[in-house]
Amino acid sequence: MIAFEAAWKVFEARSGELTTAVADISLDIAKNEFVCLVGPSGCGKSTLLRLAAGLLLPDRGSVSIGGERVREPRSDTGIVFQSPTLLPWATILDNVLFPAKMMGVASPEIQERAKALLKLVGLEGLERRFPRELSGGMQQRAGICRALIHNPAVLLMDEPFGALDALTREELTIELLRIWTTQPKTILFVTHSIPEAVMLADRVVVMSAHPGRVAEVLRVDLPRPRSFQMESADEFHRCTQRVRQLIFGDRTLQAA
Ligand SMILES: Nc1ncnc2c1ncn2[C@@H]1O[C@H](COP(=O)(O)OP(=O)(O)OP(=O)(O)O)[C@@H](O)[C@H]1O
Ligand SMILES: [Mg+2]
Repeated sequence: MIAFEAAWKVFEARSGELTTAVADISLDIAKNEFVCLVGPSGCGKSTLLRLAAGLLLPDRGSVSIGGERVREPRSDTGIVFQSPTLLPWATILDNVLFPAKMMGVASPEIQERAKALLKLVGLEGLERRFPRELSGGMQQRAGICRALIHNPAVLLMDEPFGALDALTREELTIELLRIWTTQPKTILFVTHSIPEAVMLADRVVVMSAHPGRVAEVLRVDLPRPRSFQMESADEFHRCTQRVRQLIFGDRTLQAA
């Protein structure tokens, strides 16, 4: 569904210095697969996501969705950024409806869908509030609803829970898995949290830095539906340990 083929992205800083953000990335993500992307800060995770979103174009290689080259943001793709990026002057409901309005599909059914999504993430009754009247976690939930409003086949999430407290984070993890089960979609999810990646993913893509490359792709053989009780399973430990080893190498041992 999402295919990176030998994709490269090089940025030129204002000083003229070149940074190879991602180098020779080849990765195939199957339809309705849940893939998490982890790696050290600056290894190119957001860059990969922005390439898939059509917000950036690769300098070499290609990125395609459903067999079509990604050349611009697509209507079958939803994006959630680390910070909620809601429109401050619009109500929560209008924020969620925004992508649908942009696509000219603001029907009464879409209104109902927006309300149903807000209910699903626990924001029922807050539709008429403005973003500043909600907590950061609530705004992030609204951001997730906005990404889901047009029921995109592909969902790209860049550390969507990064700014949230641990409790809200676990709650939204379960919520996201529930949405993914009832409305299947292909998800590429960037996170700094190794346990979160293993809890969510079918496969975890571990990246290394300078330049950003795929170090290893790890399959998570935990049954679904997932629950936080699985954190004590052997498979959970095997996966988190392997990812840690790939990211930190022997430094893990020293820290232990
Ligand atoms: N617009 C840009 N101009 C110049 N350099 C950039 C730009 N965007 C990203 N980079 C560089 O590309 C590299 C990868 O950045 P990217 O944001 O993809 O990393 P990341 O893995 O998402 O990091 P983090 O975990 O901190 O979010 C970094 O070295 C960064 O400085
Ligand atoms: Mg990033």
